[in-house]
Amino acid sequence: MYAITLPSFGGPDAMRWAQVPDPVPGHGEVLVDVAASAVNRADLLQRQGHYPPPDGVSDVPGLECSGTIAELGAGVTGWEPGQRVCALLAGGGYAERVVVPTTQLMPVPDGVGLVDAAGIPEVACTVWSNVVMRAGLTAGRTLLVHGGSGGIGTHAIQVASALGATVATTAGSPDRLARCRELGAAIAVDHRTADFVAALREVGGADVILDNMGAKYLRKNLDALAPDGWLTIIGMQGGATGELPIGAMLAKRARVTAMGLRGRPLDGPGGKADIVREVTEHVLPMYADGRVRTVVHATVPMADAAEAHRLLESGGVFGKILLRCDADRASVEAP
Ligand SMILES: NC(=O)c1ccc[n+]([C@@H]2O[C@H](COP(=O)([O-])OP(=O)(O)OC[C@H]3O[C@@H](n4cnc5c(N)ncnc54)[C@H](OP(=O)(O)O)[C@@H]3O)[C@@H](O)[C@H]2O)c1
Repeated sequence: MYAITLPSFGGPDAMRWAQVPDPVPGHGEVLVDVAASAVNRADLLQRQGHYPPPDGVSDVPGLECSGTIAELGAGVTGWEPGQRVCALLAGGGYAERVVVPTTQLMPVPDGVGLVDAAGIPEVACTVWSNVVMRAGLTAGRTLLVHGGSGGIGTHAIQVASALGATVATTAGSPDRLARCRELGAAIAVDHRTADFVAALREVGGADVILDNMGAKYLRKNLDALAPDGWLTIIGMQGGATGELPIGAMLAKRARVTAMGLRGRPLDGPGGKADIVREVTEHVLPMYADGRVRTVVHATVPMADAAEAHRLLESGGVFGKILLRCDADRASVEAP
């Protein structure tokens, strides 16, 4: 098969579309013919040599995919060859074929295109595990999600709105804020020109904050939190080391947690199998009935992954960039 390989670390052109051995499904795994994968910020770090795959995981990049089941490994029940699936991966998605443990496999929701489904697993598992499983967001509560214009943000706005929560968000231009409002955000703040803390204080604070910025927003996030609120940090776009104001935490009885999805164990409490099961039960039906959709900024042939990485690095992407796995190298399709 062909896959994106990294003969050396570096810029987007370090990636090569090259022939590699086909993966073979082991016990409890299936082989998937990949229709598409999607680009995540972690892929950029992996390409630069800053985010190695966990032990035993393929060094082909790609944390999610969609496709059809080609072959069942030993001991697999409940899945059939030819079935349309999408999958959360620890790596290996930028390839024509990938092996997936069945505990990381999800059926493609009815009415969702096979290529679009590649944009579901990473955002759905990250948002649900942080915002609902951990921080307990429910109807009537307020979620602040930073970067509402990103892959995570566009999904979180829709899911939290579907749950009946009030959603506040930040993004980087009036046009992007307007698009966040169309997705369901009631409060949208331009992070370049306005103070999100003031906007949140007007509504009594955020019960849950999903944060992509890390150090830069640590103090502000605590100021924007409601009493008994929960700050859950998933990104370090604003730095990895900051000062935690414990006085502000005490006053609000705040909880601050941080969570990475990729390195989590497959099984056990809070493992990937639990998350995938919950997403299948609670989030995929939201796609099937149209309350949630993958917001696709562009679809790029997988062999041109370098182009997709340049696009994400250049800024201005709204939603997800998908990597379509097919033989032709058609030019970038952007809506
Ligand atoms: N821990 C995990 O398991 C996990 C899983 C998935 C993703 N992540 C992380 O979560 C973050 C979001 O992922 P993604 O896929 O949504 O990335 P993305 O699509 O690249 O979006 C990044 C977002 O950051 C926003 N942003 C930039 N500067 C900002 C600022 N000063 N204040 C608020 N927002 C700002 C951008 O908004 P504008 O362009 O509108 O300014 C954009 O919406 C990334 O850091 C990613 O690495 C973590």
